[in-house]
Amino acid sequence: MDKLVIEGGKPLSGSIVIQGAKNAALPILAACLLAEGTSTIEHVPRLLDIDVMLNILRELGCRAEHVGDAVVLNTETAHTSHVPESLMGQMRSSIFLMGPLLARFGETQVYQPGGCAIGERKIDLHLEGLQALGAEIEEIGNRIICRADKLHGADIHLAFPSVGATENIMMAAVLAEGRTTISNAAREPEIQDLQRFLNEMGAKIMGAGTDTITIEGVQSLTPCTYRVIPDRIVAGTIMVAAAATRGQVTLLNTNPAHLSSLIHVLRRAGVQIAIDGDIIKVGCPGRPRAVERVVTAPYPAFPTDLQSQVMVLLALADGVSILKETIFEGRLKHVDELSRMGADIRVDLNAAFIRGVPRLYGATVEATDLRAGAALVIAGLAAQGKTIVEQIHHIDRGYECIETMLGRLGARISRYSPVPKN
Ligand code: UD1
Repeated sequence: MDKLVIEGGKPLSGSIVIQGAKNAALPILAACLLAEGTSTIEHVPRLLDIDVMLNILRELGCRAEHVGDAVVLNTETAHTSHVPESLMGQMRSSIFLMGPLLARFGETQVYQPGGCAIGERKIDLHLEGLQALGAEIEEIGNRIICRADKLHGADIHLAFPSVGATENIMMAAVLAEGRTTISNAAREPEIQDLQRFLNEMGAKIMGAGTDTITIEGVQSLTPCTYRVIPDRIVAGTIMVAAAATRGQVTLLNTNPAHLSSLIHVLRRAGVQIAIDGDIIKVGCPGRPRAVERVVTAPYPAFPTDLQSQVMVLLALADGVSILKETIFEGRLKHVDELSRMGADIRVDLNAAFIRGVPRLYGATVEATDLRAGAALVIAGLAAQGKTIVEQIHHIDRGYECIETMLGRLGARISRYSPVPKN
C-alpha cells in the first residue's frame, strides 16, 4: 500500500488551480446513460472513484475514454442494466446508476453500494423515491432488483435532504410521464450542476438549489458537452491547509459562493480571506483562534466533508472549540489519529471538544476514510517533524495526486509505493 511521507512545518505558499468536482462528475457520468450517443464531460478529475464509475459504464457496454481533462462517453452501445457486485462494492456513488438505468432499460439489478465507512449510509430514500415513480423493488440479500414498465411523475417528500437520493430521483424522473416534485430536496451545488447538465440534454427541471425541485418529464434527451463545477471540498481542504501551516495561498478556479460556510468559520478563526471573482486568497500569519461551535448540516450549512480538515485547524487554535457532526454517525475516527500527533480532543457522542495546542508532532497515522485522510495530511504539513500517512488509497478517491498539488505549494511531501517482489 502506498504511503505519504511529509516533513512538516513549512507554510504553504503559491497558487493552485482547483480540480473539477468529483461529487458533481459522478452523477453526471451516470446520467449520460439517459441520452444515447456521445457526451463529452469536461473538467473531470482523474480519481479512483471516477475510474470505478467509468469501469462500471464500460461493463454495461458503454465506451469511455479520457481526453485531456474530459471524459468522452458513448452510451449508445450500453446493453445491460445489471451492475456487477464487485464493482458496485467499490464505491458509494455506484448507486447513482439505479435511476438512469431504470429510466433507460425499464429495469436494473444492483447491489448494496460500498464507500467510506463513516456511518450506516442507508439507501431507503433512494428506493422509496423510485417506488413513488412506479418502480417495483425486490431486495434479495445484497441484491436489489428494480423494475418499471413505465415511470410516472409523483410528489416525493424526502424525510431527510439526502444528496444522493435527490440526484437519483431527478435522473429517474426526467424521462417519466408527467411532473415530479421533490420536496425537502438537498440543495448542494452538485445538485444544481446535475440540473444544468440534464437541462442541457433537453430535460425540464427547475428549482435545484432550493428545497423544492420540479421535473417535467420529456420523451427523450440528447447527448451534449458539459463542464463540471470546481470541487468545493478540494478548495476547502487547500484553504484549511494554507491556514493551518500559516501560509499564503491563492486558489484559482473556485466558486466562493459554494464555500461561504467555510469562509465564515475560517474568518471567525482569524484567517484572512480575500475574494476576487473566482479567485480566493487565504493567509494566516498568526495562531488561529478557537471557534466556539461548528456544526455540520446539509448545504448551505457547514459541510460534513470539511469537518475533519477544520478539526486540524481548531486543534492548533488558541482556546477551546466544539465541532459537532450531525450527518454521518461514524465520522470522528480521525480524532484518535490526531491525538497521536499531540492534539487534545475529547469526543462525546457526535461532538468533539477540542482544546487547541501550540503545535502538533509528526507520527505514523492511518487514513480511515477520504476526508479523514486529507485532514491527516494537513496535520502532517503543520506538524513539527515527519508524518507518515498510511492507507492513502482513501485519499486517492477524492484528490487528484495530492502530493503533486501540495508540492506545487512548497510542501515537502512524497509518495512511497512498496517495491514489487520478484
Ligand atoms: C453525498 C456526497 C458525500 C457527502 C454527503 C453529505 C457524493 C458522491 N457524495 O453523499 O461526499 O458527505 O453527500 O453532504 O455526492 N441517508 C438515509 N437514507 C438514504 C440516503 C441517505 O438515511 O437513502 C442518510 C445517510 O445515512 C446520511 C445522510 O442521509 O446520514 C446524508 O446522506 P446523503 O446526503 O445521501 O449523502 P450521499 O449522497 O451518500
